Amino acid sequence: MSDNNFDLVVIGAGPGGYVCALRAAQLGMKVACIDKRGAPGGTCLNVGCIPSKALLHASELYAEAAHAQNMGITFSSLKLDLEKMMAYKADGVDGNTDGVRYLFKKNKVEEIEGAAKIGAAGAVEIDLLAGGTRAVNAKNIVIATGSEVTPLPGIEIDEERIVSSTGALSFDKVPKHLAIIGAGIIGLELGSVWKRLGAEVTVIEFLDRITPGMDADMAKNFQRVLKKQGLKFMLGKKVTAAKALKNSVKLTLAPASGDGAAETLTADRALLAVGRRPHTQGLGLEALGVAMDGAGRVETDAHFKTNIDGLYAIGDVIAGPMLAHKAEDEGVALAEHLAGKPAHVNYGVIPSVVYTAPEVAWVGRNEEELKEAGIAYNVGKFPFTANGRAKVNGTTDGFVKILADATSDQVLGVHILGAHAGDMIAEAAVAMEFSASAEDIARTCHAHPTLTEAVKEAALAVDKRALHM
Ligand code: NAI
Repeated sequence: MSDNNFDLVVIGAGPGGYVCALRAAQLGMKVACIDKRGAPGGTCLNVGCIPSKALLHASELYAEAAHAQNMGITFSSLKLDLEKMMAYKADGVDGNTDGVRYLFKKNKVEEIEGAAKIGAAGAVEIDLLAGGTRAVNAKNIVIATGSEVTPLPGIEIDEERIVSSTGALSFDKVPKHLAIIGAGIIGLELGSVWKRLGAEVTVIEFLDRITPGMDADMAKNFQRVLKKQGLKFMLGKKVTAAKALKNSVKLTLAPASGDGAAETLTADRALLAVGRRPHTQGLGLEALGVAMDGAGRVETDAHFKTNIDGLYAIGDVIAGPMLAHKAEDEGVALAEHLAGKPAHVNYGVIPSVVYTAPEVAWVGRNEEELKEAGIAYNVGKFPFTANGRAKVNGTTDGFVKILADATSDQVLGVHILGAHAGDMIAEAAVAMEFSASAEDIARTCHAHPTLTEAVKEAALAVDKRALHM
């Protein structure tokens, strides 16, 4: 085999692509992973999940320090050094991308830096970042090119006054007033960062609620908590234009429905966060005749195969939630399928997490979905105000809600608003993966004193026998 012949070529080194490459290499395939960014890890590691979590963590410590006098901790001069905070964020990103490079080497995956184009089935041409081109052949090719910011007509992102999440992760100073277009996960996570660091934050949302997709009851309570923290919300408004001025940005808002008067809002920066769309340009997919759906996603079968033999796709470029861990699981399943092993992804048990403080996390179905499907269910709720650990930690905002089948008691959905919800939801995902009943969770011994006792109590509450409420 010459150096340019591979069993598998993965285009895109994000969480879907690099994990697929690693698993395929573990299974004995000769693998190359191509990425044009100049650092592996995709949006998630470079300008998404990881840098945002670094800033969420640092800004939370800053905000907590300002309130720590309740615990007898006082600071004579609490100061924010934003440049240093950004350097801390960059270190976290570098540590993670270096980690992926190490894993590539360890597993003998060849990392190729450049922009890939699929010339024909099994053939990839690469414009190398270092200059020049390279052609490689592969028995199988995987498109794992992720997603990009969805634009909004009338709004031009300059990453200066009007920014995407990338720009909002790198402001050089705390904006006095940050306007956020879209009350989705990106808007609320980054809104929380800048609010904690001192900005006035106004979130403008098209719908009459925040975070579509989240259980409506959770979303209502979540919004209440965020309002208490000082975030301002303008619901039922659509942003029709944004104009960057010398030192500010002027937004034009109209009612989302009906024909009320337009209004304007001036802020010093605006973040556009109205969703992401599949990233498929420049790959040569049209010329190849790759089937796409109405939303611009690559169409695949149950084993991630496109309509072209030997061409597969995973992650944000195909249907399903745009989440790193969904892409990772698809990457592993595809590598195992290509190696002739049984492989599947359980799309009913993919957790979602919003990394604000408190966090919101959920897995399985919400109340609206169960009602729409006509499934009878019981609800068990338990508030963190009644959890001993939450009380001493001062994190009593939120509750756990378990939805269980009214007949079989099988857990159908678990929703948590509270500190560490993103970690606690793993218990619920494991329980659901094993088709647990609420009683199974209720009978499982949970350590005291932990926040997870609220999960057990919510499971008891399904049967109306919570102990501490
Ligand atoms: P999103 O789809 O979560 O939310 C976008 C919001 O913008 C929606 O509420 C929508 O109604 C609103 N909107 C649309 N047009 C509007 C307009 N003209 N004016 C006002 N509001 C408007 O999208 P987001 O937050 O940009 O996130 C993109 C993707 O990235 C999502 O799939 C999300 O799940 C994923 N993501 C996940 C994270 C996590 O798992 N923690 C973190 C960040 C992103």
